[in-house]
Amino acid sequence: MAEKILILGSNGMLGRDLVQAFLDFDVTAWDIEDLDITDSDQIVQKISELKPEIIINATGYTNVDGAETNEELANQINGHAVGELAKTASQIDAILVSISTEYVFDGQEKDVYDETSKPNPINVYGKSKALGEELLQKNCQKYYLVRSSWLYGKNPQVGKPRGMNFVDLMLKLAAKNKQLEVVDDQFGKPTYTVDLAQAVLQLIENKKPFGIYHLVNEAEKLGVSWYEFAQKIFALKNITVDIKAVKTAERPDKAKRPEHAVLINTKAEKLSSWEDALREYLK
Ligand SMILES: NC(=O)c1ccc[n+]([C@@H]2O[C@H](COP(=O)([O-])OP(=O)(O)OC[C@H]3O[C@@H](n4cnc5c(N)ncnc54)[C@H](OP(=O)(O)O)[C@@H]3O)[C@@H](O)[C@H]2O)c1
Repeated sequence: MAEKILILGSNGMLGRDLVQAFLDFDVTAWDIEDLDITDSDQIVQKISELKPEIIINATGYTNVDGAETNEELANQINGHAVGELAKTASQIDAILVSISTEYVFDGQEKDVYDETSKPNPINVYGKSKALGEELLQKNCQKYYLVRSSWLYGKNPQVGKPRGMNFVDLMLKLAAKNKQLEVVDDQFGKPTYTVDLAQAVLQLIENKKPFGIYHLVNEAEKLGVSWYEFAQKIFALKNITVDIKAVKTAERPDKAKRPEHAVLINTKAEKLSSWEDALREYLK
């Protein structure tokens, strides 16, 4: 019989691709309307009743600048709720997969961050995700803590309006402007949510040892900048647009961004290259 799996945040950008990736399982897909994960009583009651064998937490307070002024909510969703999920998973002996981010690192490392690197977040969003990581590891044993970065995927328009992913935003802006400004001093690894969802499936199917995993599309060792990412998007779409490289310091963003938050995957099967993944998305 197919294993029973609960996907939380199932209307989100990654959540939707997770639901697709796990179609051969007995999937229950919940979003905030079905279970608000800031309500710990509901977590215990609803999840204990369902008794899934695997829980994947793809929820998140994901507005990085918004978190600066909504610290309590960001901590609730990205931090404390993950701890409550971990306690419940442990009680019902379920595996818990929770998605985290390169923003738990300060980005000061001129090398890469591997699965053993120590978090040191520099903004509220990063701190809230680091809190979730800590509470996950403290409260259950059977966990996969999956860090990824610079996600893009099909933009769900279900429920509340969401911010656009970087690829769609660049295409929209290029249609309206002759020149775009893009930062060239932040580096990372762009990752396609379809590939990330497949990589999470592989962890489960291959019964990889529990622990921390960095699942990102492969890129040059030190990652790519947002500027290079934008250049590649326009090259693949044959769009001619003048892109001006700017520095992070020139931008009005509320939250501080890590400069070199480049994750390296040393434990799981490698995902495809970021260029191939982008080509696939833009098809
Ligand atoms: N986007 C990135 O670049 C990136 C990079 C690395 C890691 N991550 C992590 O990957 C995960 C998925 O990211 P994403 O970009 O797919 O996020 P997303 O599109 O914003 O989806 C998050 C989902 O969580 C739901 N949610 C929010 N608050 C909730 C609550 N209290 N209870 C239940 N569900 C709630 C949202 O519902 P509503 O929209 O209705 O509120 C939404 O469906 C997150 O944990 C994020 O931190 C993202």
